[in-house]
Amino acid sequence: MKTYLVTGGAGFIGANFVLYMLDRYDDVRIINLDKLTYAGNLENLTAVEKNPNYRFVQADICDKEAVSALFREEEIDYVVNFAAESHVDRSIADPQIFVKTNVMGTVNLLQCAKEAWQVGDDTYRDGVKYLQVSTDEVYGTLGETGYFMETTPLDPHSPYSSSKASADLFVKAFADTYKFPVNITRCSNNYGPYQFPEKLIPLIMNNTLHHKPLPVYGDGMQVRDWLYVEDHCKAIDMVIRSGVLGEVYNVGGHNERPNIFIVKTIISYIKEHVDPEVGEHLITYVTDRKGHDRRYGIDPTKIKDALGWYPETTFEVGIKKTLKWYLEHKDWVEHVTSGAYQSYYQKMYEGK
Ligand code: NAD
Ligand code: TYD
Repeated sequence: MKTYLVTGGAGFIGANFVLYMLDRYDDVRIINLDKLTYAGNLENLTAVEKNPNYRFVQADICDKEAVSALFREEEIDYVVNFAAESHVDRSIADPQIFVKTNVMGTVNLLQCAKEAWQVGDDTYRDGVKYLQVSTDEVYGTLGETGYFMETTPLDPHSPYSSSKASADLFVKAFADTYKFPVNITRCSNNYGPYQFPEKLIPLIMNNTLHHKPLPVYGDGMQVRDWLYVEDHCKAIDMVIRSGVLGEVYNVGGHNERPNIFIVKTIISYIKEHVDPEVGEHLITYVTDRKGHDRRYGIDPTKIKDALGWYPETTFEVGIKKTLKWYLEHKDWVEHVTSGAYQSYYQKMYEGK
């Protein structure tokens, strides 16, 4: 039995990872530590809440006492750090919480894991590992051609990506300074079930269903490299098991699409399956995001060659599965978009 401390496991990717692991393995125990911010939701985890190999703890990754207590209570083999403030637009409006959670929280987790796992000078219990879930946004932006490789210099632009890049540098510093066992994964944009409707795909989906304007930033020709969330979970699982200590692995499936293509795909799906009244007349071009990165694209050669990872879900299949999931989980959408989401939306999109 291996025990994973998964942080941020009540959010979009973290919850998908918890469900993915407990569905596949009987010899995996998961301790899910999550602060339950606006983005964390225990409803995402009802399928596993009674699983004897699962435990949920509500805590902040910045809280040294709470995190160290968990290391005393449980024999943790792996830390997988998903916990983060994850939305670029929120980071532009209010960067400080991004520094606190994404940078200081990561350093706290590293420090607690180091104290718990250390058995001698620069030596640690056998088989332990800390995995930092990072993002391709730390590389900045691409022009029309080329891809992000693991060797691409870090050049973040937004407060969000700057905080994630800072966290990556601390993870590297722990490896370089203390020989601490780490991996970093840098994945492209994820989509799939349980994504909070502040992100492009669920936001456009929800607005289309409600005949609300579909806000497209700038000219809509920014490119993102979309990966179905389960393929990201598979990559993380493989990196924990087989990743070479100290290495960074980029994760992406060569699925680059301009934003306007994504928006039009969602409209036509809803038009066909739900409501013939919706259409491209709902598209509203709005002021571009400040410092908006033009294009992201991952070169996944390293993780493919080294670990045999490949994406299983094509964009065409994944987007249909995702949109179907949202249609079948209207209650979930309603819960997460009531209350605080409404004031976020009004401030962000309606200038109120
Ligand atoms: P999310 O915003 O949906 O979820 C974040 C989770 O972290 C929530 O459950 C929240 O409650 C929790 N959290 C926030 N602050 C916390 C704190 N201080 N202590 C404990 N828990 C806290 O994010 P996501 O989209 O699932 O992203 C997860 C991770 O993957 C992040 O680190 C993000 O940078 C990274 N990532 C995301 C994408 C993407 O497309 N969404 C792509 C690549 C990498
Ligand atoms: P988002 O889902 O916020 O992910 P990220 O900024 O981390 O890539 O945005 C994806 C793309 O969609 C990005 O280029 C910004 C754009 N976008 C819009 O055009 N309108 C929106 O309302 C949102 C949320 C995003």
